[in-house]
Amino acid sequence: MIKLDITKTAPFVSAETIQAYAERVAAVQKTLENGTCPGNDFLGWLHLPSSITPEFLADIKQTAATLRSECDAVVVAGIGGSYLGAKAVIEALSNSFQWLVGTGGPVILFAGNNIGEDYLSELTNYLKGKRFGVINISKSGTTTETALAFRLLKKQCEQQMGKDAAKKVIVAITDARRGAARTCADKEGYKSYIIPDNVGGRFSVLTPVGLLPIAVAGFDIDQLVKGAQDMEQQTALGKPFAENPAAVYAATRHALYTAGKKIEILANYQPKLHFMAEWWKQLYGESEGKDGKGLFPASVDLTTDLHSMGQWIQEGERSIFETVISVEQPEHNLLFPSDEENLDGLNFLAGKRVDQVNKMAELGTQLAHVDGGVPNIRIAIDRLDAYHLGQLIYFFELGCGIHCNLLGVNAFNQPGVEAYKKNMFALLGKPGYEKETAAIRNRLTP
Ligand code: PA5
Repeated sequence: MIKLDITKTAPFVSAETIQAYAERVAAVQKTLENGTCPGNDFLGWLHLPSSITPEFLADIKQTAATLRSECDAVVVAGIGGSYLGAKAVIEALSNSFQWLVGTGGPVILFAGNNIGEDYLSELTNYLKGKRFGVINISKSGTTTETALAFRLLKKQCEQQMGKDAAKKVIVAITDARRGAARTCADKEGYKSYIIPDNVGGRFSVLTPVGLLPIAVAGFDIDQLVKGAQDMEQQTALGKPFAENPAAVYAATRHALYTAGKKIEILANYQPKLHFMAEWWKQLYGESEGKDGKGLFPASVDLTTDLHSMGQWIQEGERSIFETVISVEQPEHNLLFPSDEENLDGLNFLAGKRVDQVNKMAELGTQLAHVDGGVPNIRIAIDRLDAYHLGQLIYFFELGCGIHCNLLGVNAFNQPGVEAYKKNMFALLGKPGYEKETAAIRNRLTP
């Protein structure tokens, strides 16, 4: 199992303070379990791992096999929770140079997560003449960024492959009944998967939203789900507080937040984990940040960012704490080389594993940051593989659900996200927004 170490928060919040949360956290977890917490119609993720059947996974793998055999590239169209989980797992498990060395399957590309004209132009140019498929992911089926990308990709796919062949390689993952993506999939006869009503976007990585793209990328979704299932057991209601890492993580975050630490920085020492942090930021940011409350989730890639953000972390405003994800065993084995001239003076490292140097950088940074007033939580996983990522995903989801309820916010809505959309539609003159358009024009006219 993943190991959670909170001992380096002790100089800032005592072990007793955190232990004192045990009852409160159990009570909160009970409200998730019995569905009495705010947003209780979105608790489908809580027992999602244990509800996944081998038949369901077989069906996903079958669709993935079709896309892998028919396509040179597969574009995953989605934004927020409809792409970040898949992107995070695929990046974490892929060769860092997959663009150059190939993947043995289709190239996985992402779109529908921005409105960049250059991005979309360059993507569609790249796809010219290629056999490509599309996984169109949108729970609401109305998200502008995703709908825009899908319009472009559907048309191009049909033009290049013909409408019948395109049907075989376009898959929809959306609501069971509502939204443009559902209507289009039913009308065109695409293979489609349902995002359960009671699972919100940012909690949906273990539904087809994450599982299908991950399977298309060639990774082991059985192991991913197994990891999540084991974590679901490990964190089940009734487990002693100290043995439930999600409960301890949530309690520690809340104790630090209460002690004035308002920013949590998720740090990794493996560049492949960059997008895990992006997924985590969305999960925590969109779930917690409401009613004037919530930790601000930030992230750094280390040691890279020690040369950019390191100064701020060491000596800036003391409103932060750090949560480090550390991978115990890298996949490869590489030794620090010896050099005859030793101009850089680094021969004392010759023969050591590069990972040993990385680990000492991590330890040295931890000590420095704690000395500098930054509490440190450490999450260690044995290996960067599908099984451990599955554990990590469920651990973070449950930790988030618990912490939001400690804060007293509804973890499962995102009312604030509508504000920019309303203005954008008003500015673009969307029918039905006439009043907003007039109001916004007044504001913008000097
Ligand atoms: O977590 C969420 O609910 C959001 O981030 C959504 O996933 C995101 O806005 C995309 O929405 P949709 O899947 O409806 O296109």
